[in-house]
Amino acid sequence: MSKHSDIKRVTTHVLQELKLKGEKISMLTAYDYSMAKIIDEAGIDVILVGDSASNVMAGHETTLPITLDQMIYHASSVVRAAKRSLIVVDLPFGTYQGNSKMALASAIQIMKESGAHSVKLEGGREIIESVDRILSAGIPVMGHLGLTPQSIYKFGTYVVRAKEEDEAQRLKEDALLLEASGCFAIVLEKIPAHLAKEVAESVNIPVIGIGAGNGVDGQVLVSHDMLGINNDFNPRFLRKYHNLYEEMKGAVGAYIKDVKSKDFPNEKEQY
Ligand code: KIV
Repeated sequence: MSKHSDIKRVTTHVLQELKLKGEKISMLTAYDYSMAKIIDEAGIDVILVGDSASNVMAGHETTLPITLDQMIYHASSVVRAAKRSLIVVDLPFGTYQGNSKMALASAIQIMKESGAHSVKLEGGREIIESVDRILSAGIPVMGHLGLTPQSIYKFGTYVVRAKEEDEAQRLKEDALLLEASGCFAIVLEKIPAHLAKEVAESVNIPVIGIGAGNGVDGQVLVSHDMLGINNDFNPRFLRKYHNLYEEMKGAVGAYIKDVKSKDFPNEKEQY
C-alpha cells in the first residue's frame, strides 16, 4: 500500500485505500488557479470545486444562481493548478434534478471542458436516476446528504439536519442507495456526529464530513472559511487556521499608506 507522500495522483481508488487503512481523507474547496496551487502543493487529497463559489467568489446569498459555464470556468482554473489532488466539481442547481438525460449532459460537459476527475450531486433517492446515468458513462460520482444547500428554500434554514428519527432513517437509506449505485464517496453536511459515524460504518465507500463530527472517514471545509478570509461566517463546526481577512486588510492599508506618503516605490523598486 502506498504512503501518503508517495502518491502521484489521488484517485477514487486511493480514497478507498485510505478508508481501508483508517487514514483520514483531507478535502478543501478551491475555485481558482492560485488557491488550488497552494492547496495542492500542501498535499490535500481532494479539491472540491464547490458551488459555494456562488457565495464565496460571487457574493450571492445562496448557491442557486451559479451556472454550469461558471462552474466550468472555476473548475478548469483549478485543474491547471492541481498536480496531485483528485478534483471533484459540483453539478450546479438545475442541471441534474429530475432529468437524468440532462444530468448526464451536464456531467459530460464538465468533464470535457474542465478536465476535472469527478462530479458531486446533492440528494438521495430523488436524484438516483441521474446518479445512475452519469455513472453509466464512466464518470465518478460523489454523493452529498444532510444539509444540501441547493434545497435551502425547501429547508428554510441552515440548521443541523436529520435530528429527528424519520429524517435520520431516510438519510441512512439514501447513503446505502448511493453506495449501491456506485458512488465513490459521500459528503455528509451538518448532521449529528453519532448519525454520521453510523453511516460511515454502514458503507464501504469513504464518507467525508462537514459539521458531521470525527467518526467519518475525512473532513471538508471551505478554504476561505478555514483561512479566515471570510470573516462573517462562524458556525460551530468551523476551525479557523488563520485570520487572513485582518492580515490582508492590514497589508492593503500599509500599501495605501506607502503610496500616499510617496514611500513606494523607492530607489530599488524602479528602473
Ligand atoms: O459547495 C461546497 O463548498 C460544498 C461543501 C460545503 C461540501 O458542497
